Amino acid sequence: MKLCATAFGVVVALVGGAISQDPTIPAVPTGTPIPGDYNGPYRPQVHFTPPQVRDSISYRIHETDLARQHFMNDPNGMFLDGNGTYHLYYQYNPTATVAGNQHWGHATSRDLYHWINQPIAIFPPTSDSGVFSGSAVVDVNNTSGFFPDQDNGVVAIYTLNTPTAQVQEISYSFDGGFTFTAFAGNPVIDVG
Ligand SMILES: *[C@@H]1O[C@H](CO)[C@@H](O)[C@H](O)[C@H]1NC(C)=O
Ligand SMILES: *[C@@H]1O[C@H](CO)[C@@H](O)[C@H](O)[C@H]1NC(C)=O
Ligand SMILES: *[C@@H]1O[C@H](CO)[C@@H](O)[C@H](O)[C@H]1NC(C)=O
Repeated sequence: MKLCATAFGVVVALVGGAISQDPTIPAVPTGTPIPGDYNGPYRPQVHFTPPQVRDSISYRIHETDLARQHFMNDPNGMFLDGNGTYHLYYQYNPTATVAGNQHWGHATSRDLYHWINQPIAIFPPTSDSGVFSGSAVVDVNNTSGFFPDQDNGVVAIYTLNTPTAQVQEISYSFDGGFTFTAFAGNPVIDVG
């Protein structure tokens, strides 16, 4: 897949669909990269688009295909790590074609042009909450205190949306931004 060097695309893929799966709500993939097929005729090749397997039988867009698409919006928390790898997170609903059930999808790149899909990085703590937009920093000096033995810890700060409020939460990563642990003191800001 390709992404131009200057633009993080905010693109909802309209083409492709999971192959021969039950059209009811799919399971959220955990701990595994989501397969993507970036060869469909309508698949943007310059902007990053979310991983999704297209219909293997037909390129036609029809209702069933669209029902199988998944949703992305804002880029979140981009950073360049100490090994020269760019990390892109993005608002991602792995179970529907509309906003809702928001997670932080994750992709990495060495050149901001070719991207590797990674497992979903941040999951909402409950089924009725969503991990909304935010930022990430590499805490090289252990300013947060989360990282006793490393200089490549990553702290993510984002809005958690619940049925009753939007609060600010923190998660942190010991493995350079691939998996995150929610801070025990969340929420860190709650103004109702
Ligand atoms: C660079 O990659 C190595 C090997 O995967 C890893 O051990 C190290 O923590 C990484 N460094 C940073 C700054 O991410
Ligand atoms: C980390 O600490 C060093 C030494 O105090 C300082 O020069 C550097 O700016 C700090 N880095 C960050 C990202 O704060
Ligand atoms: C990181 O911060 C924690 C909490 O302040 C502290 O216990 C730990 O010793 C620190 N580690 C380093 C390497 O500074």
